[in-house]
Amino acid sequence: MKNLFIAANWKSNKTAIEEHEWVSKFALSVGDIISDVIKVPIVICVPYTVLQNMKQQVDQAKLPVFIGAQNISKFDEGAYTGEVTGKMIKEHAAWVIVGHSERRKYFLETDSDIAAKMEKAHAAGLKVIYCVPDENTPVPPGADVVGYEPVWAIGTGKTDSPENANTVIASIKKKTGATTVLYGGSVTNDNAALFVRQPSIDGVLIGGTSLDPDKFARLVREVTTGVQ
Ligand code: PGA
Repeated sequence: MKNLFIAANWKSNKTAIEEHEWVSKFALSVGDIISDVIKVPIVICVPYTVLQNMKQQVDQAKLPVFIGAQNISKFDEGAYTGEVTGKMIKEHAAWVIVGHSERRKYFLETDSDIAAKMEKAHAAGLKVIYCVPDENTPVPPGADVVGYEPVWAIGTGKTDSPENANTVIASIKKKTGATTVLYGGSVTNDNAALFVRQPSIDGVLIGGTSLDPDKFARLVREVTTGVQ
């Protein structure tokens, strides 16, 4: 069996109350498969404002999931109003997503900004999911996990075909030396297993479907059993 990896990206969704509800429901839904999935890293990337609560809740429930942020400052601490540093994130999380297409599009992040963010993340002891929209976007050496997410597939209900995603991911691996590469973009309960059955795809990055704890727990089950 290959080494699977599952990541969730809540984006700009969920208050602290909603986060609490999500974790409670997820713990119930995922309970019966916990021993199967314990070896599969599951990283849930949430808004900064719920990192602390989520960490406490996950620790208390002994849920085998890692917590991630969705962005990080490219600077160290100091006079950078509104920015959240790697050191701050590391108090509550183990991972961070950098280079998501929405950050590139709405916040005009460049490849060099994103590379700087990865450097700060690593300096703080965080692991990085480095997102790219295609195989031609550079990935600096050292990304822990790469996410291939075609822009047109994000939140649209249209996915890349599993076969084409596999070809692109194989090419990303060849070009960058990355060993763990995920597919993301409209992954649902109906199609997740089709992606992870492809030989080069190591897992999935889930946006919309991860907002519902029951659907996400089911997806974890589908993905972990889908490749056995
Ligand atoms: P989606 O988002 O699953 O809602 O398409 C994926 C992502 O942007 O990470």
